[in-house]
Amino acid sequence: MSGHGDAQPMTSAKCGPLRGTAAVPGDKSISHRALLFGAMAVGETKITGLLEGQDVLDTARAMRAFGAEVVQHGAGDWSVHGVGVGGFSEPADVIDCGNSGTGVRLIMGCMATTAMTVTFTGDASLRKRPMARVTDPLALFGAQSYGRKGGRLPMTVVGAANPVPVRYALPVASAQVKSAVLLAGLNAPGETVVIEREPTRDHSERMLLGFGADLSVEQTAEGHVITLKGRPELRPQTVAVPRDPSSAAFPTCAALIVEGSDITVPGVSQNLTRNGLYITLAEMGAEIAFLNPRTEGGEPVADLRVRFSDNMQGIEVPPERAPSMIDEYPILSVVAAFATGRTVMRGVKELRVKESDRIDAMARGLEACGVTIEEDEDTLIVHGMGAGGMPGGAVCATHLDHRIAMSFLIAGMAAKAAVSVDDASPIVTSFPIFEDLMNGLGAAIRRG
Ligand code: S3P
Repeated sequence: MSGHGDAQPMTSAKCGPLRGTAAVPGDKSISHRALLFGAMAVGETKITGLLEGQDVLDTARAMRAFGAEVVQHGAGDWSVHGVGVGGFSEPADVIDCGNSGTGVRLIMGCMATTAMTVTFTGDASLRKRPMARVTDPLALFGAQSYGRKGGRLPMTVVGAANPVPVRYALPVASAQVKSAVLLAGLNAPGETVVIEREPTRDHSERMLLGFGADLSVEQTAEGHVITLKGRPELRPQTVAVPRDPSSAAFPTCAALIVEGSDITVPGVSQNLTRNGLYITLAEMGAEIAFLNPRTEGGEPVADLRVRFSDNMQGIEVPPERAPSMIDEYPILSVVAAFATGRTVMRGVKELRVKESDRIDAMARGLEACGVTIEEDEDTLIVHGMGAGGMPGGAVCATHLDHRIAMSFLIAGMAAKAAVSVDDASPIVTSFPIFEDLMNGLGAAIRRG
């Protein structure tokens, strides 16, 4: 889908205490991967709890275009009849990944070592995002790519007819790049090696092992060395997708800043490559109890009991924590505005190449809400105004970015005056039930 239809303005007014259970949908990263690995296995993979957000639906449509049979049986309940590693057929048309960087970059990896030519595009946000970080390593396998200036979509990738395996040290901490290289390595002979200095989300590695690939991870002085043996026969799996900790961040942070709140957020991933926000909130003095630790869908999870926390302190977020909370900085910067003192977020320049320039989008929107901000290329600093202290009363621009839209709607729940966003339509990409779920807890979010 190349757009989200008409802009959908939305407004969030100060609300009473939040109560109840916030059961958020399936994890976006794991949902994409379940469809991709299912399509590259031989036979039928069953998926439960799949996120039915637009990003994932666009990946499902793409897998059909490559020849996999992808069927929805009920809510979150899907099956993928895969064609095997190297079994993709050339799509008859352009692959449109909508708003999804994960979708397009991982699918490029999937096809880069098969002899076929595929043209990719996406919405206005995705067409601005850099693809060279993926096409550079894919070129080492023998794939060629032809995109717009700066490696932007639309872009045509010509897969390598005779791929060679690759040894690649990631120049940026990116799970998307790591995953694209591993996916390409599946259809290359020999061993493909990816080296990451800082650990990034490890869902591809976990899932590759689950699907029967020969993969090992070694901790060395260089960092994580991930070795994948090419041309395995992937065995179909049953994948139970756990809830998305990045979506859980929104009701969690709302409860922390709305006076009197006390909610439960069940099944939040404690995977060390995803839980940086929750560690940070604890350091700020947030009242969060981690209950019933267990394993769900192969991920360590806990139920969170979250209470209004009127005494949170700003902190310095360690830059090395960034990969484990990279999608959570927008909502953290809202919480920071309701804490006391400065919250300093350094080492976050990757935020500038997400669905929007998230440093700029948060800085401008928070300033419009009356918050003092400092920023540079790699840093965002929020001057907290204490519980209930944010004036609000602004219309914030979301730049086709779901997490910016949700962050400002959460800010409105505790600001003195309502906060509006110019376009909430991108929220369907990751959290289609956001409005109903938040209003069900007690929020006052309305269209317009
Ligand atoms: C993702 C990796 C992250 C994250 C994105 C999902 C993934 O991107 O921001 O929302 O599923 O691999 P980068 O790899 O660019 O850091």
